[in-house]
Amino acid sequence: MKRFVIRERDTRESVVVCRKNIFSAELAPMRGELLGGGGILFTDSNVYALYKPLLEKYLGGVPVFVMPAGEAHKNEETLFKLLKGMQEAKLRRNSRLIALGGGVVGDVGGLAASLYMRGISCVQVPTTLLAQVDSSVGGKTAVDFGGVKNLIGAFSQPARVIADPLFLETLPRRELKCGLGEIVKHGALSAPLFETLTAAPDLFDLGFLAKIVPENIAFKASVVRRDPREKGLRRCLNLGHTTGHAIELCSDLSHGECVLWGLLFESRLAARHFDTDKAFSDALTSLCFRVLEGGERPPLDLRKALLDKKNTSSGAVTLAVPVAAGQFEILELPFARYEEEIGRIAEELC
Ligand SMILES: NC(=O)c1ccc[n+]([C@@H]2O[C@H](COP(=O)([O-])OP(=O)(O)OC[C@H]3O[C@@H](n4cnc5c(N)ncnc54)[C@H](O)[C@@H]3O)[C@@H](O)[C@H]2O)c1
Repeated sequence: MKRFVIRERDTRESVVVCRKNIFSAELAPMRGELLGGGGILFTDSNVYALYKPLLEKYLGGVPVFVMPAGEAHKNEETLFKLLKGMQEAKLRRNSRLIALGGGVVGDVGGLAASLYMRGISCVQVPTTLLAQVDSSVGGKTAVDFGGVKNLIGAFSQPARVIADPLFLETLPRRELKCGLGEIVKHGALSAPLFETLTAAPDLFDLGFLAKIVPENIAFKASVVRRDPREKGLRRCLNLGHTTGHAIELCSDLSHGECVLWGLLFESRLAARHFDTDKAFSDALTSLCFRVLEGGERPPLDLRKALLDKKNTSSGAVTLAVPVAAGQFEILELPFARYEEEIGRIAEELC
């Protein structure tokens, strides 16, 4: 079992626990406190269908609110329905919301918990690889609004994050790939993790993934601890995401695949502007292609990259780019130059 503590300045402490058998070991002991207005379980339709028997066995009687699965439902309608459900369950200021699901459930549940009575405690139980290594850690919560992703949200650290490898057993390969996109990104930013990843014979092996989830959480937690509100260092977590986001908006690739393509493009962009480590760039390229398992070069509409909220001045694109294992640089380019260079890289790459 691994355990970390994230403290946001002097305010809230967030405890992260990675262990097997969370239903019997972590959730069942909470049942008594959750009954009678003490809490609510929030999940999505897919997760509920898969884990209903376990939920009934260990958390029977606790009110459950189930949202329809998918990003399309990460909106204000779901948020307000959940808040209504929390009111109907008679939650109090000291009640708890348990968010059991992927990043969508975690983001909506975290935001609802931060709003209800100006903030009640939230326990994140991430069930996708992406949610375990990324979205459940760090306290970012949000819903999409007016067609803009994550427009309405808040920073609110969960009281507890409980990650169990059990959930990975029911995840489709495409969802594993999604989580691996963020894991490879973490690897580019952490030399020891990069070494573990490049040495792994099978990146999709569930035993291997279970072992590296705690290392990934520890890495993200260490960044968040130093920059909880994304004022500086935390933007390194945006590696691969500016170009990846632009690809995501004009293709049907998953978020993880887009991040991997983004890393491929941006590591080459880095080599044009900084003194980069060639052996590292080659190893990162091969790691990205191993997770992508082939796949054609995606369509690119880089104008969409300009919409990225991390860009500082209009007409310019600002990116965190990988330069060596565990090192990144911030690169700011006029849009026309960024577009031209990425276009050339695309010709070289594919
Ligand atoms: N808050 C953050 O810091 C942060 C960081 C990264 C991403 N995000 C957000 O996370 C979301 C993406 O998260 P995601 O990839 O987990 O998507 P998701 O929550 O939509 O889950 C993906 C799919 O897997 C299903 N699923 C979940 N757990 C399962 C399991 N154990 N077995 C089988 N199926 C399961 C879900 O029902 C869904 O269909 C996006 O909305 C993104 O904006 C947030």
